[in-house]
Amino acid sequence: MITKKISIALLLSATFTGSLLPPAITAQSKATSPVAPRREQVEAVVKEAYEKFKGDTSGKNADYIPYLAQVDSKMFGIAIVTTDNQVLTMGDVDYSFSIQSISKVFTLALAMDELGADAVFKKIGSEPTGRAFNSPIAVVDMPSHTGNAFVNAGAIATTSLISGANEDEKWNKILEFYGKAAGDKLKLIDEVYKSEAATNTGNKALSYLLAKYDRIYADPFESVDVYTKQCSVGVNAVQLARMGATLANNGINPATGEQVIKPENIPHILSAMAMAGLYDGSGGWAWKVGLPAKSGVGGGIVAIAPGKGAIAVFAPPLDEAGNSVKAQEVIDYVSEKLNYNLFSPSSVSLK
Ligand code: DON
Repeated sequence: MITKKISIALLLSATFTGSLLPPAITAQSKATSPVAPRREQVEAVVKEAYEKFKGDTSGKNADYIPYLAQVDSKMFGIAIVTTDNQVLTMGDVDYSFSIQSISKVFTLALAMDELGADAVFKKIGSEPTGRAFNSPIAVVDMPSHTGNAFVNAGAIATTSLISGANEDEKWNKILEFYGKAAGDKLKLIDEVYKSEAATNTGNKALSYLLAKYDRIYADPFESVDVYTKQCSVGVNAVQLARMGATLANNGINPATGEQVIKPENIPHILSAMAMAGLYDGSGGWAWKVGLPAKSGVGGGIVAIAPGKGAIAVFAPPLDEAGNSVKAQEVIDYVSEKLNYNLFSPSSVSLK
């Protein structure tokens, strides 16, 4: 753990840290993935993407959570972690931003770990809503009411599935699980939590609407509170990329070697990300980029190239659907250059 911290600190010490990996981290790598990209390939592409998109000022910080409106909208960081634990970074990768909706992926993983995939599928579902992430109309209209685990309603219901004797026990279990996926101890950003808890009337309304349909599985307001905390967890781009790489690596954290997520659940999680990870932008994303991904209104997006690795980008300004503009541009560019698109046979080297 200590050696890993030192290694990460070394990795973060320069703006572009695509050079030599400290030996400690290399030694922790699992057997080399036959499909992980070569370091030189990734290094050049990350640098190109950073230069190409750093000047794009389009989009706007989320402001319905007051804290997020004040985050410096010029911040921009890219991190790639491969399944063989190479770490490549560029820009603002040591800033802790709130994970927001990206947390939903890992609460889904924990719920499946506890209840099994079939039970979670029955209780939550996995259909895209085609509506905004916080839509009450989707709760009324969707046959499942919950929709999927990534819109706010389905996510609050997923959080309500996590077992525990009381709210604190549930919350601590979630936080610890995220930390295992990140390979680091993660913390709540208290100011984000307070800012969101003071303004989350819409989510409270969704939780009661779910109760009307018997589609929330613990006390509605308690579930919203745990959900608000999980959205307020701080991650930097490297930690987020490592959480993604854990998914790409069949649930094994490539830095710690720990099996964090059951391998049988990975395809369900990634398919849910492909269907609804970017909300009402998910169809366009699949069309263009072809990777399971998840966005958060804090400005992060993580995308997964199964077997290969994950890319996390942090840049606060968002588009209309609530997805980081620069993060989408970078991931689109990088995945094209590295042949990551899952729907393309060339992603498995078919010429
Ligand atoms: O509940 C909310 O609205 C936020 N905590 C999370 C929403 C979010 O990140 C949507 N993402 N693009």
